[in-house]
Amino acid sequence: MNETELLARARPGRNDPCWCGSGQKYKKCHLDEDARASPAAPARSVRARLRPGVVSPRRPVPAAISRPDYASNGRPRAQGRDVKTAEELERLRRACRAAARVLRVSGEAVRPGITTDALDEIAHAETIRLGGYPSPLNYRGFPKSLCTSVNEVICHGIPDSRPLEAGDIVNLDVTVYLDGMHGDCSATFLVGEVDPEGRRLVQVARECLAKGVAAVLPGRPISDIGRAIEAHASRHGYGVVRSYCGHGIGETFHTSLQIPHHYDPSVRRLMEEGMTFTIEPMITEGTWQDLLWDDGWTAVTADGKRSAQFEHTIAVTGGGAEILTSEG
Ligand code: MF3
Ligand code: CO
Ligand code: CO
Repeated sequence: MNETELLARARPGRNDPCWCGSGQKYKKCHLDEDARASPAAPARSVRARLRPGVVSPRRPVPAAISRPDYASNGRPRAQGRDVKTAEELERLRRACRAAARVLRVSGEAVRPGITTDALDEIAHAETIRLGGYPSPLNYRGFPKSLCTSVNEVICHGIPDSRPLEAGDIVNLDVTVYLDGMHGDCSATFLVGEVDPEGRRLVQVARECLAKGVAAVLPGRPISDIGRAIEAHASRHGYGVVRSYCGHGIGETFHTSLQIPHHYDPSVRRLMEEGMTFTIEPMITEGTWQDLLWDDGWTAVTADGKRSAQFEHTIAVTGGGAEILTSEG
C-alpha cells in the first residue's frame, strides 16, 4: 500500500460524516481539500485525522459513594476558596493521591488495540474501588469518567469505541472526588512504537509541567508559571495552547482562578501560601490554536498536528510547590 492509498483508506466515504465533526457529508465538507493535499503530502504528515467513535452508555456509581453537587443535573454550583485550611489540604491530599493511583492503573492498560472506552471502564472501576466518584462523569454533561485525548486532540476527548493504534499518543486525564475534594492529574502515554518526533513532543510536554511547578513561589505573580512553560516550549519550537488553562481546585472542580500556560503579563494576581490549583500545559507540534468538535467537548489543534499534556494538582507552600497528585 502506498501513502496515497493509506490516506485514502483512512478517509471517510463520500457520503459518510466528515472527519472534522461538522456533521456534514464528507463530500460537502473536507473531501476536496483532502484530495488536493494528499498527493504531495510527505510520509510523516500522512496521519489520518481522528474521527469520533461510538460512546457507550453511562456507567453507574454505587449509591453509597458521595457525589459532587453536579452529579445529578450536570450543573456545578459550589465555589470554594482558593486558599485552603490545614484540614482542607489534608482532604485534598487524599483525593489527589487517589487520582494519581487511578491514572497509573489506567496508564498501565494502554496498549495497541485497547479502546478508549475500555480505559474509561478501568478508571471508573478503580475510582469506585477507592471510594471516590469519577469527577468528569456528568460534569456539565460530560458523558464519561475519564478524558482520553489522542494525537491532535488537545483535551476533553470522550472515550469511545476506537481502538488505540501503535504510534498514537494518548493523554489520560483523571479527576477523583473523595472526602469532599477533587484531585486532578493527567499524563500522555505512548501506544506501542511512536516516531521520534512524537516521543520528543511528549518529553518536552512533561518538562513543561516540571518548569511550571518549579516557578511556583508565594508572593510571585501567577504569570511566572506560564512564562516558564512558554519559554521551554518555544525553545523546542512548540506551541502552548491558550484556550484551556490550569484552575483553582478543591471542593469545586474548577474555581474562577485561572492559570494560563503561556506568558500573559496581564495576570497580576500573586501566589499565596495554601493556594491549590492545577498546572496542565498542552504543548503542540504546530499551531497553538484550537477548534472544537461539534460534540461540544473534543478540543483539537486547528492544523491537525499532535498535542501532548501533563497535569498535576499542587499546593503553594512557603518555599514553592507541593505536588499533591503523587502516590507518595
Ligand atoms: N480534568 C480536566 C481538567 O484538567 C477537566 C475535565 S472536565 C470534563 O481540568 F468534563 F471533561 F471531564
Ligand atoms: Co485540570
Ligand atoms: Co484534568
